Amino acid sequence: MSLAPAAIRGEVTIRHLSKSYTLDGRPLPVLDNINLKIRSGESLAIVGASGSGKTTLLRILAGLEDADGGEVLIDGKAVSGVGAERAVIFQEPRLLPWLTVLENVAFGLDTRGVSREEAKARARRYVQLVGLQSFENAYPRQLSGGMAQRVGIARALAVQPEILLLDEPLGALDAMTKIGMQQELTRIWRDEDVTTILVTHDLEEAIYLADRILILPREKNAAPRLIEIDLPRPRDRSAPEFVRHREELLTLFGLH
Ligand SMILES: Nc1ncnc2c1ncn2[C@@H]1O[C@H](COP(=O)(O)OP(=O)(O)OP(=O)(O)O)[C@@H](O)[C@H]1O
Ligand SMILES: [Mg+2]
Repeated sequence: MSLAPAAIRGEVTIRHLSKSYTLDGRPLPVLDNINLKIRSGESLAIVGASGSGKTTLLRILAGLEDADGGEVLIDGKAVSGVGAERAVIFQEPRLLPWLTVLENVAFGLDTRGVSREEAKARARRYVQLVGLQSFENAYPRQLSGGMAQRVGIARALAVQPEILLLDEPLGALDAMTKIGMQQELTRIWRDEDVTTILVTHDLEEAIYLADRILILPREKNAAPRLIEIDLPRPRDRSAPEFVRHREELLTLFGLH
C-alpha cells in the first residue's frame, strides 16, 4: 500500500511579480520582479517605507488586485482573483453593526456550505480563541477598538483559511493594547498553524511576530531584502538578539 504524500497547505510562491500604476499619464513602478517562496505555516512580515508597495503586494496576494506580470502560486497552483483558502484582515475590522459578535464571526460561513449549527459552534470557538467569550452577544458599538479588531481576526480565522493576509491589523491601536494583541497573535498562530503574511509599519512588531521579514525598497531599482528572525517564541523584546535585529532594521532604513 502506498501512502500519498501529505498535501502542502498554505505555501505561497511569488514569481517575477511586477506592478505599475499610472500617475499623471506616466507609469509609476511599484513592484519590480518580486520572487519569494513563503513556507507552509510560516509567518512573514512585510515592511518598507510608505508608498513602497506593501499594500499593493498584499492585495495582489489576496486576489483583490491584478499584477502586470509574474504569478502567484498557492500550493503549487497559479491563482487569479480571490479564493476561499485566503482570508484578509484590514486595519479597520469592518464589522456589521446590526450583528452581534458571534453573528459577525459566523457571517459568511453559510455561503461556504457550513450548516447553521456548525457555523455557530465554530464562531464560538474562535470568539473564545480571541478571548471575547463574555462579549458574544455584544454589538460592535459596545466594543473597544482592540476588541473589535479581535472580532475581525476571529471572523477571518473562522473560515479556516490556509493563508491569513493582514494589512496593518494593529495600526490603529494604542501601544498597550497593541502589545497585548501581538502576544495574542503569537499564541493564535501556534494553535492554528496558518501561513501568515503581515504588513506592518512597526519594525518591532515585525521582529516580534515574523519568521522572516521582507523589506521592500523605496527605490524601485533596488532589490528587496529578506531577514531571518530565528528567535524562540514568545519573544523577549529586550533580549540582545532582538535588539540587534532592531538595530539592523533601523540601519537598513537609514534611521540609525
Ligand atoms: N489604485 C491605485 N492607483 C494609482 N496608484 C496607486 C494605487 N494604489 C497605490 N498606488 C501607488 O502605489 C504606490 C504604493 O502604494 P501602497 O499602498 O502599496 O504603499 P504602502 O507601502 O502600502 O504604503 P503605506 O505604508 O503608506 O500604507 C504609491 O506610490 C501609491 O501612490
Ligand atoms: Mg499600505
